[in-house]
Amino acid sequence: MHSKSKPDVNTASWRVFCALELPQQTRVRLLSHIEKLRALVPEARASWSRESNLHLTLKFLGETPPHLVERFDSAIARAVYGIAPFPILAAGSGVFPRPRDPRVLWIGVSDAERQLAQLHSQLEAESEQEGFAREARPFHPHLTLARLRSQRGAREIARAHEDLKFAPEEISVNEVLLIRSELGSAGSRYTTISRHTLKC
Ligand code: 2AM
Repeated sequence: MHSKSKPDVNTASWRVFCALELPQQTRVRLLSHIEKLRALVPEARASWSRESNLHLTLKFLGETPPHLVERFDSAIARAVYGIAPFPILAAGSGVFPRPRDPRVLWIGVSDAERQLAQLHSQLEAESEQEGFAREARPFHPHLTLARLRSQRGAREIARAHEDLKFAPEEISVNEVLLIRSELGSAGSRYTTISRHTLKC
C-alpha cells in the first residue's frame, strides 16, 4: 500500500471507497454553485457536501475489514496500471432519481473518450478478482453536491440547480485515491489511505 495510514488488524472495519480528488479551483466553483442554491431556496433541507469532501466516486465498498481494505488497495493498483493521465469535463447539472422526486443534486461528468469508463471497468474487474461484488447499477459519474432531506423546497431547488447549469471545466485525472469515511454528527470525515498515480 502506498499508504498514509494502514488499518490496524485489531480494529473494526473501515468504511472505504475509491475516488478521484478534484482540483481546488473546481471545488471552489462547486461551492459557489452550492451557495447560490442555498440563497435561492433557503427553505430546502439538505446535507450539503463540504468543499474539502467534494470528489468523484469510482467504487464504494462500505464497511470493510482491514485485510480486505489491503486487497481493495491492490485491486486499485492493478486497475490503474498502464493507464496514462487523461482529461474529463465537469459539466451540466442533474438530479437523482428524477426531477419530480429529487433526492440528490449533482454536477455531471463528461468522458467523451471513455477513458474514465475504461478505468472504472478495470477497477470493477480487478475488485471482482479480489472477491468484491460488482456494482449492480450502471456507472454514472457525477459530483454530488447535496442530499435532500425533505420534500420541502425540493422541487424548487432541483429546478434552480438545473437552471443554474455549470459551465464546463476540464479536470485532469492523474491519480486514484482510496479513502476512508467516518460518519459523524458534523458530516463525514474523509481520510486518504493511499494514492495511486496514473503513469504514461
Ligand atoms: P455519491 O454520493 O457521489 O453517489 C462516500 O460515501 C461516497 O461513496 C459518496 O460520495 C457516494 O457517492 C458513494 N456511495 C456509493 N454508494 C454508496 C452507499 N450505498 N452509501 C454511501 N455512499 C455511497
